[in-house]
Amino acid sequence: MSEGISKHLFLPKGQGLGLKDGKLDKDAFKKVIPVLAAKVAPEKAGVLLKSPVMKRSLLDVPKIKSVGTEGPGNEERLVLLKYSDQVDLTPEVLEFLKSQSAELVSYPVEFSYDYWTADEIIHAILPEELEAGAPSGFANVGHIGENFVVFPRTRNLAKNPKCRTVVNKLDNIDNQFRVFRMELLAGEPDFVVTQSENGCKFTFDFREVYWNSRLHTEHERLIEKFKREDVVADVFAGVGPFAVPAAKKGCAVLANDLNPSSYKYLTMNVVDNKS
Ligand SMILES: C[S@@+](CC[C@H](N)C(=O)[O-])C[C@H]1O[C@@H](n2cnc3c(N)ncnc32)[C@H](O)[C@@H]1O
Repeated sequence: MSEGISKHLFLPKGQGLGLKDGKLDKDAFKKVIPVLAAKVAPEKAGVLLKSPVMKRSLLDVPKIKSVGTEGPGNEERLVLLKYSDQVDLTPEVLEFLKSQSAELVSYPVEFSYDYWTADEIIHAILPEELEAGAPSGFANVGHIGENFVVFPRTRNLAKNPKCRTVVNKLDNIDNQFRVFRMELLAGEPDFVVTQSENGCKFTFDFREVYWNSRLHTEHERLIEKFKREDVVADVFAGVGPFAVPAAKKGCAVLANDLNPSSYKYLTMNVVDNKS
């Protein structure tokens, strides 16, 4: 049996898609793929969606509704299937659809710019010669995104509505305070962020202190081990990702950091989180 619509669900890589005069053309990422839809009375839609016979033939794609309509005023429901050709439906499925008085019609499913992941978009935008330099990932710290691809003319911080500032880390952290030098790639030169983690809010200047959002599970793992009656001594506390939630949990906490800026934001975060 064919894998259905999924074989069409990709963007071409390395072809400079969606860049017009240095501007991002979101419409270029629109893809319309026709699929089969089972047109049924409204009360039958749920029957189709729950049927074990139908399970493997239903359209199941993230961010795409599995039931459509033919437009306002039209009561009938269109239960979307993942195939575009009837030959891909098993005799059992066809028999079941017949028993539910379903009519098979074609339905155009639209995959817009918002459907694709940032990674898919970036690889589609970059021309082949720049593909190797594409960021393999990026991280958000508050309103700052690290290592995004940026479109200089538009300052378009693609795919990330919260992102106002884009930075690139310039070197390894081999200094005592574990801070990165960073360059502003786009957006506002505002480096003071507020980041939520483990039920607390942390404010800090991303240029001046150590912060790594990827450590959130490690922070959580240790915080979960703390009990109210514990005394926690965090001698390399940074801006407080262990110390502040521990204090909030009721532990007695001693926290310290050699970096004056970390210490400043640590004390600020203690107050802000009433910990
Ligand atoms: C890897 S960071 C970890 C910070 C924090 N625990 C976290 O998870 O975000 C290490 C921290 O230790 C601090 N540090 C380095 N040497 C120190 C020292 N001798 N005494 C106290 N703090 C120190 C640095 O300024 C930095 O904030």
